Amino acid sequence: GHGIAVFTSGGDSQGMNAAVRAVVRMGIYLGCKVYFIKEGYQGMVDGGENIAEANWAAVSSIIHRGGTVIGSARCMDFKERWGRLKAAENLVKRGITNLVVIGGDGSLTGANLFRVEWSSLLDELLQTGKITNEERQKNKSLHIAGMVGSIDNDFCGTDMTIGTDSALHRIIEAIDAIVSTAYSHQRTFIMEVMGRHCGYLALISGVVTEADYVFIPESPPPTDWARKLCDKLMQASYLAVVAALASEADYVFIPEDPVKTDWKDHLCKKLLQERSSGQRLNIIIVAEGATDREGNPITAEMVKKVVVDELAQDTRITVLGHVQRGGNPSAFDRVLGCRMGAEAVMALMEATDDTEPCVVSLDGNQAVRVPLMECVERTQAVAKAMSEKKFDLAVELRGRS
Ligand code: F6P
Repeated sequence: GHGIAVFTSGGDSQGMNAAVRAVVRMGIYLGCKVYFIKEGYQGMVDGGENIAEANWAAVSSIIHRGGTVIGSARCMDFKERWGRLKAAENLVKRGITNLVVIGGDGSLTGANLFRVEWSSLLDELLQTGKITNEERQKNKSLHIAGMVGSIDNDFCGTDMTIGTDSALHRIIEAIDAIVSTAYSHQRTFIMEVMGRHCGYLALISGVVTEADYVFIPESPPPTDWARKLCDKLMQASYLAVVAALASEADYVFIPEDPVKTDWKDHLCKKLLQERSSGQRLNIIIVAEGATDREGNPITAEMVKKVVVDELAQDTRITVLGHVQRGGNPSAFDRVLGCRMGAEAVMALMEATDDTEPCVVSLDGNQAVRVPLMECVERTQAVAKAMSEKKFDLAVELRGRS
C-alpha cells in the first residue's frame, strides 16, 4: 500500500500526540504503511533510525501526554537543497510518498517547497546513481497534508490551532492561583503570556479571568489614546469580545477614539476605578509582543513601573513562559488532534497526481481541507502587516475569509 510518514516540526504543542496517533491508526486501518519521522525535518534529513515504521500499539498511551513523543526540531539543514536531497533519498528508499506535517507556518512552507522541488530532486538522485529508475517512477509524486500545531492560534485558515485550548487552561489555572494570593495582599499582578505576535491567548485569558487590562500586539494602545472615552470604551470593547466569543468570530476590532491621551493614564484610571469600587486586587495581562501604536514594545517591566510610580500599588510580575506549552492536553485539543489526523490521512488517500497540498483545519467546527499555500501566504501577510504597524490590515487579514 501507500507509504505515509508523519512528523512534528517547530515548537511543540499539546494535542500533537493525539494527531500523530490518529494518523498512524487511520493509516493502518486503511491499509497503508505508516512511518514516524523523529525529530522533525532533521530526522528526515538524517534518516537511519529516525524513520521507523509505526504500528498500532506504538501510539498507545500517548493521547494524554503533552508535547510530542516523536520529537521536534527547528532544522537548518532542510533549508538547504543538499538537506532536501538527502531527505528525498531517505523517503524514496522507503517508498514514502505521503507526508503529514504537524507544525506552524514555517514548517508548512518547507513542506510545500519540498513538493515543488520533488521531481528535480528525484532527477538529481537518479543521475548521481542514488536511486534506480524504477524507484524514480514509483515515487514520482509527493502528497502533503498539514495540520497546524501551535499554542499561539496565529494561523490563517483555521478557527483553532492544536494546543491553544490547553495553553489557555494552563494560563487560567495560573491566574486563578495568583488571584487568591493577590487578594490577600491587595496586590496588582502583571502576567506575561505567550503568543509571539498574536494576542489571542492574552485576549481570551483576559476575558475569562476578569483581568483589568490586556496588552496585545494587534491592538496596541495609541500613545495618544482617548482618556475621556476610556470607561465607555472598556465597556464597549468588553462586549465586543464577548459577542465575538459567542458568535465564533475570528477577530475583534476594538474601536479607537479621536480624543487624545496616553495608555499609561488609561491604565491607571482603570486600575483606580476597580480599586475604588471595592476590588482588592488587579490583574493585568501583557502578551509577549505587545507594542504601542508606534511599534515600541510594552513589556511587563514597563507596565509595573507605571503602576508603581503612578499609583504606588504593591505590584509583582509573573512570567508564565513554557508552562503554557506543557502539561496534558485538554479534551478539546485531544479531539481536535484526532479529527485533524484522520482527515489528513483521508485527504492523502484521495489525492491524485496534481492535487495541491492542503492544510486540514477547523472551520465552524467542521474539519475541512484548505489550500496550504493560500493559508501560509495569508499568515505571512499578517506578519508583514504587523511588522509594518498596519494593525487594522493585520486584523482584517487574520479574520476568516
Ligand atoms: O510558537 C509557540 C511559542 O511558544 C510562542 O508563543 C513563543 O514566542 C515561542 O514559541 C517561544 O519559542 P522557544 O520555545 O523557542 O523559546
